[in-house]
Formats: sequence, structure tokens, C-alpha cells
Amino acid sequence: MSKIGVLDSGLGGMLMMKHLIQRYPAQDFIFLADQIHSPFGHKTYEQLVNIVNQDIQWLKNQGAESILFACNTISCIQPQDLDQSIRIERVVEPTCAQLSDSKIQKVLVCATPFTVASGVYGKTLIKLYPSLQVESLALPNLCSDVENLTDRDIVIEGLNNQLHPYVHQVDAVVLGCTHFPVYKEAFEQILGCPAYESNQMTLELVSEGTGELSYYTTADAAIFDTQCRCIFQMNIVSSKVEL
Ligand code: DGL
Repeated sequence: MSKIGVLDSGLGGMLMMKHLIQRYPAQDFIFLADQIHSPFGHKTYEQLVNIVNQDIQWLKNQGAESILFACNTISCIQPQDLDQSIRIERVVEPTCAQLSDSKIQKVLVCATPFTVASGVYGKTLIKLYPSLQVESLALPNLCSDVENLTDRDIVIEGLNNQLHPYVHQVDAVVLGCTHFPVYKEAFEQILGCPAYESNQMTLELVSEGTGELSYYTTADAAIFDTQCRCIFQMNIVSSKVEL
């Protein structure tokens, strides 16, 4: 049976896992949260290439037959810089494909510093919708705020300040980091427009398995389990892997 490896720096990927498990209950998944290297969005391109190739190798050794990057930041890495012996699915295109509503004329993309600097969302959106106006905003702290379980009110106050120039100025916001949907409602309320994110994406390589699920983190497993319980009400038992 075909096991899908799912990779992220942490809780963003776990939120995607929560959706995937509901939609594909018979699929076998192995999830790796490379939390020791979090946040990915502050790394250099070379650092990310090394980290991700190591993670891919580990997932392959565990029996993954394809890998989903449940992460926008690493979805920006050029395919030729990564191990090409395994099929990899990325989140940017499927996320952009959701914006087919012709009433959307101006969009704000919020993402990690790495993703914004790569320009990948702008390029992909313009290719799909040539007349779309795209603005981008890096939110450098939001991923760590989610990982650190920072007080919600403090996070929302920060979002209010950072999003202020865009309030009622855009028709949609794209949450270009899988950690950000933890605050999806806040984005929608503050900006006054709908938010689009990666969690609805369709997996092409789904197979009938037994629904076997395993979870690994490169940081502390007990802390990861607690984070999953507190934020997503998921009771999981993860294991620590040294990478
Ligand atoms: N959740 C990831 C993303 O979608 C990574 C965030 C990070 O580690 O900076 O970009």
C-alpha cells in the first residue's frame, strides 16, 4: 500500500493532516514535523535545500512512496535542487487555483519572509489570472507565534497592526503559509474579505490502505503532542527522530 509522507516545520502541516485524515480515512500517512529547524521561512535557500533533502531521505527510508510538502516555504524550492527519485506534491498551485472567482480583482498574499521573497505566489497567480492585482506581505512572527502557543489576543493585536493598510482594500487574502489558517477567522474579520488557504487541496496519489498514521517530530515529542491537543484537539502520540 502506498504511504504518503507529509512534511512541514510543525503545526501548519499538522493542521493539514487533520483535514487529510478526515477526507482520506483509508490512506496511510507518515507525518514529519521538522520543528528543530522551525521556522523554515527565515532560512536561506541553501539551508532549506539541505534540510529538506535530509527530510525526504528519512521519509523514503520509512517507506513513503510519495511526499506532500504541507508547507509553502519549501514548495518554493526548485525541483532540480531536491531528490528527484520520489514524487513530491506542492501546495502553491492548488492554493492559487481556488481563486477562480472573477469578482476577485485584487488579492493580498500573506506568507513567510522566504515565500514572499521568492515571488512564487505572484508569478503563479498572474499566470492563472493575468488581470489580477497581487500585493504581498511577509508576516515574520506568525509561524513562531503558532508554534509557541502565544496568547491569542496578543497575536491578533499584532495582525491588526500589520494588516491595517489593507483593510477593505483587497477582495481576497491568500494565507500562503500552512500555519496561518490557525488565525483564518481573524484575517477575514480584520480585512473584511474571504481567506483562501491550502487545506482544501486534493491529493492525486491517494490509495486504499488501512488508515495507518504515524507522527514524528525532530524536537520534543511530548511538547508536540501537547501542542496538537491544545490547538487542534488532536490526541496523538508522536516519536522523536534525530536528523
Ligand atoms: N508552514 C510552513 C509554510 O507553509 C512553514 C513556516 C515556517 O516554518 O516558517 O510556509
